[in-house]
Amino acid sequence: MILKHSPKTNRVSLKGAVQINSNSYFVYSDEAGKTFLKTGKDENLHKCAVQSMINLNPDISGLLKKYKIKPSINTKTLRELTNGHMNETCNIAIGVYSFLPENLQREIDCRVIKEASMLHDLGKVLIPSKILNKPSKLNIKEREIMNIHSTLGYELLKTQNLSEKTLELIKYHHQNLKHSGYPELEEGNFPSNIGVQIISISDKYSALREARVYRRKLNRVESLLILYKEVREGKILPAVYDALVEYARKFDT
Ligand SMILES: [Fe+2]
Ligand SMILES: [Fe+2]
Repeated sequence: MILKHSPKTNRVSLKGAVQINSNSYFVYSDEAGKTFLKTGKDENLHKCAVQSMINLNPDISGLLKKYKIKPSINTKTLRELTNGHMNETCNIAIGVYSFLPENLQREIDCRVIKEASMLHDLGKVLIPSKILNKPSKLNIKEREIMNIHSTLGYELLKTQNLSEKTLELIKYHHQNLKHSGYPELEEGNFPSNIGVQIISISDKYSALREARVYRRKLNRVESLLILYKEVREGKILPAVYDALVEYARKFDT
């Protein structure tokens, strides 16, 4: 059952995200502590929530200034991501988790995987849409801006009562076992290795299976072959890749 509630939009905080009947919902609470669920469609509420996250963390304005990004909340992007890519990444991540050997499953809580996958690209609400939707290759400057979305997502959410583990996965979902992804890692700091691997491979597989403005949708085999190259390069743990192959074979037909 979806809780119906009309909060005053200026005082809501995001507590997490859940999936019900394959649909994603944001879990909010109002200033009286009342909890309610919203889909990505409630753009006004999300805009207010993101604005309050920006107000609570001055580092966000610092980051936007550093990269010369005009502060603007792109709720259309959030709606599309929630209903599409983030929801699909969550489906894949749950599948990958379920096909992992038990010893690897024990390293991470599946609830953390679900929540992090449903929120992993939230930072894109602050990335200008002309960069997000550019039909050709991004230049170096644009790539730099695009690549801070995972840090922005982390900074937005860190004041919102999410678990440390969820926040780590959101921040590092573009990192890999060779540590050649982004953001750069501090010395010796690569938390929740298996969690990052699950979110990262699910994110990539989901993206490859979608059409982009600059390329067609790839089929299952093409997508798996691209990711296998990353296994050979030592960026993806073979057991995580094998779990994805099992998932794709059974559920992505
Ligand atoms: Fe991302
Ligand atoms: Fe993503």
